[in-house]
Amino acid sequence: MPSLGLIGGTGLDHWGEPVQTHAIRGDYGRPSAGLAEYHLGALRLFFLPRHGENHTIPPHAVNYRANIDAFRRLQVGGIVAVNAVGAISSRYVPGTLSVPDQLIDYTWGRAHSFSMNSGDSLQHAEFARPFSGRLHAGLINAAAVAQVNLAAGGCIGVTQGPRLETAAEIQRCKRDGCDLVGMTTMPEAALAREAGLDYASLCVHANWAAGLGDEPVTMAAIDATLKAAMVAARSVLATLFEELCHAN
Ligand code: HPA
Repeated sequence: MPSLGLIGGTGLDHWGEPVQTHAIRGDYGRPSAGLAEYHLGALRLFFLPRHGENHTIPPHAVNYRANIDAFRRLQVGGIVAVNAVGAISSRYVPGTLSVPDQLIDYTWGRAHSFSMNSGDSLQHAEFARPFSGRLHAGLINAAAVAQVNLAAGGCIGVTQGPRLETAAEIQRCKRDGCDLVGMTTMPEAALAREAGLDYASLCVHANWAAGLGDEPVTMAAIDATLKAAMVAARSVLATLFEELCHAN
């Protein structure tokens, strides 16, 4: 039976009524929540809300290692992560979706590897292409089937948060080549690579990044944009799940 992990971000805290929920406690402490299991045709889906059931865990305090380790223990065939992001390039309009193919990590002080301490088994994960080609292509195909407007490719800069960026920080991200900015793709993507799990990100554009829009960025505006865009994101995901049922 094919299986997939789904990590929900801001605006996607649940998928529906699960068959069962797995309370997993491994070597890295507690994941953000229990992992909810769904049977969608032939697909076993495991859903985890990154910020916890009540959306109380800030990006820098997410236990990314416990989350990825929980998916590894459930032996999922890969992970699709949903990330609310700010848009930097004009191609990525608020309210629409994209699947980035590159990232730049600006985060600091997070437990960012399974090889944190001397004595841990040390690995230097290959990470030139941080997102899985298979799931990345699957998301692009699903958007086409679902007739949802989605930009393929782009670079996401991952900042520390929880505050939003300064206008100068966004200009630096832009000079570095970032098209999008978010707070949660790292170390999640790198840990998935270390764990040997395919990982792709579906980005939901919540706002123009700091200094780029006409108005200051507010959480109220972000939430309103996300609410509408998540309908399209859910449609892409549901289509992907259907395609995965027939793929294996
Ligand atoms: N910056 C970082 N993360 C975000 C943003 C942003 O502007 N919007 C939504 N998540």
